[in-house]
Formats: sequence, structure tokens, C-alpha cells
Amino acid sequence: MKHKVIVTGGCGYIGSHTVVELIENNYEVVILDDLSNSSIETIGRIEKITGVKPIFINIDLKEEAKVNAVFKEHKDALAVINFAAYKAVGESVNKPIMYYKNNLYALLNTLSAQLENGINGFIFSSSATVYGTPNKLPITEKNETQRPFSPYGNTKKIAEEILDDFTKATENFTAISLRYFNPIGAHESGLIGELPSGIPNNLMPYITQTAVGIREKLMVYGNDYPTKDGTPIRDYIHVVDLAKAHVLAVERILNKKQEENFEIFNLGTGKGFSVLDVINSFEEVTNSKLNYEITERRPGDVPELYAATDLAKEKLGWSANKTLNEMISSSWEWEQKLRAKLQ
Ligand code: UD1
Repeated sequence: MKHKVIVTGGCGYIGSHTVVELIENNYEVVILDDLSNSSIETIGRIEKITGVKPIFINIDLKEEAKVNAVFKEHKDALAVINFAAYKAVGESVNKPIMYYKNNLYALLNTLSAQLENGINGFIFSSSATVYGTPNKLPITEKNETQRPFSPYGNTKKIAEEILDDFTKATENFTAISLRYFNPIGAHESGLIGELPSGIPNNLMPYITQTAVGIREKLMVYGNDYPTKDGTPIRDYIHVVDLAKAHVLAVERILNKKQEENFEIFNLGTGKGFSVLDVINSFEEVTNSKLNYEITERRPGDVPELYAATDLAKEKLGWSANKTLNEMISSSWEWEQKLRAKLQ
């Protein structure tokens, strides 16, 4: 019999790639999504890739009674992976209440519905933003967390604190928080990838949209950081590598391998690349020139952030293996397919 996993936000960027990996590893998947920042078409695309259509329920996780009813119907699920959240950093600065409500009500309703229905495993989609401006690199999970610059980031930090409290208070309930560094790339099928709504905040979709001509030029936010070329350094990770870590986290929970009821793992490659490195790789991969200009720093950006990856390797048996060029070429293929389809 297949193990059932509930995936909230399963139509989104990282969610959809994770659903594919789960199905390919023989899990039965139930997706809960309100399609606020994703498309129903993703379900058909997941089916095209895997040959299996996941169960899909259109639901706003802020609606507690409905969440309870759905979890009751699927109380045979063994774990929940929580991707459902708003994620636009700039928007969260302007609309903090909307972000706190959406990201935290959804989390609380999910946890209480799990409690009610005896679904005892939980995986949380967190972010390296909880480390703030680290004073030690690479960042291990032991690095202290800081209040993130944005309300979006703070919802991740608060969520981890809620999980810490909840797992301490609730016997048998176990959780894993996965702190992502900078996910980019797309599935090799070219059928799923990132779908930023409006003007992208993140570097990679901004680059690919500039290259296809939707944006005039990329603004490089500052070249006066204390790094090798003055631009900030990040740990970019392929979304498919990231997705695979979620399957291993589910297995860790189901096989009762956890050493503590609440565990935290960094998900990165351990390698740092500057903004100019990414631009150079993009130009190399696509054999073209990117239109860009150096402008002022963006508030809240930290100079350098890359992961220590030892813990995920040791405990989850996971490590990322795709190169920056592979990540970039898959993002580029996805962008081109997307535009060809929209024309
Ligand atoms: C951002 C968020 C982080 C979130 C993550 C999700 C902030 C401070 N952090 O990380 O909380 O979890 O996205 O993927 O916003 N850049 C440009 N021009 C652009 C866009 C980005 O130069 O148009 C630079 C940025 O200055 C940064 C690097 O590219 O140095 C990466 O930026 P981005 O993709 O937005 O990721 P982070 O800021 O690292």
C-alpha cells in the first residue's frame, strides 16, 4: 500500500517539484492549494511527467473548519509537507498583516487539524533568511537565528518557534524544518518551473525575463559589498535537488529515524556564487549578452550566505549534485517554453 502524504501549496514552484519526486518514489499525494500564486494546469503537468494524477483540493488554509474536514477525510495520511505561504519579500514589507495572517493561520490550522486527526509528521518549508546577517560562514544549523529583515522572513522564524513549542508539547508529533538557500532551476521535462506573478523579486527569474525581453534590464543591487567582485554571494540550489530532500525527510519521519522531535536542516550546495558569477554563467550557457546595470544596494540584502551541508548529508543522506550551469540552463529552458506557450 502506498503511503499518503498531504502537500499544502503543492501547485507552487517547490511544491510541484516535490510532488513529482514523491509520486516517483511511490507515495500517494493529496495537494491542498488555493491557487493564489499557482495554476491548476500544474496538476495536468505533474500527471504528464509521472503518469499519475495527484488528488487536488482547492482550499484556503485560513478556513479552519474546512481544513479540519479535509484532514478528516485524509486521516490515513502519514505526514504533511507545508509549502503553502506567500513569499514575496517586498510585498510583505508593505502588507505585513496579510503575510502574518496567511502564512501563520495556515500553519496553525494545519497543525491543529493534524493533531485532531492523528497525522503526526510535518515538514516545513523554511528559509536561510532566518539566519539574518551571519557572522560565521558557512552557516551551520547551530548558527543563531536573527529576526529577519522582512515580515515574510519573520513568518518563517515564527513558524519554526511554533514548531519547537508544538513538538515539545505534543508527544509523538515530529517535525523537520528545511532551510532553503536560493532555489533556482526547473524540472528537466520543461513542464514545471517557477511562475513569478508580476515583476520578479528574485535574481534568476529576473535574468531570464530580461533575456526574453519582458524586462528591459537587470538591476544589479550593489557592487560595493566586501566580496570578491563586490556583488553579494549566495548558495544557489537546483529545485529538483531540493525536492529530493523532502522525500528523504518524509522517509526519516516514517522510519522513525529522528533523533529529536524537531529537527532542522540546511538545504544548499555549500558553494557561494556572486551575482556577477550568475550573470557570467548565464551568458556562457545561453551564448548571449545580458543587459544589466549596477545600481544601489537593495535594503535587507546580506553580503554573503552559503550553507554548511554536513548535517543534511549525515542525517538525511542528501546532497545536491547539480552544477550552477545546469541550474541556469534548466531555468532558461523553462522560461523559453513558458513564453512560447504564452505567445
Ligand atoms: C530572497 C529573500 C529570502 C527568500 C528568498 C527566496 C531578501 C532579503 N531575501 O533571498 O528571504 O527566502 O529570496 O528565494 O529578499 N539581485 C539583483 N537584482 C535583482 C534581484 C536580485 O542584483 O533584480 C541580487 C540580490 O541583491 C542578491 C542576489 O541577487 O544579492 C539574490 O537575490 P534573490 O534571488 O532575491 O534572493 P535573496 O535575496 O538571497
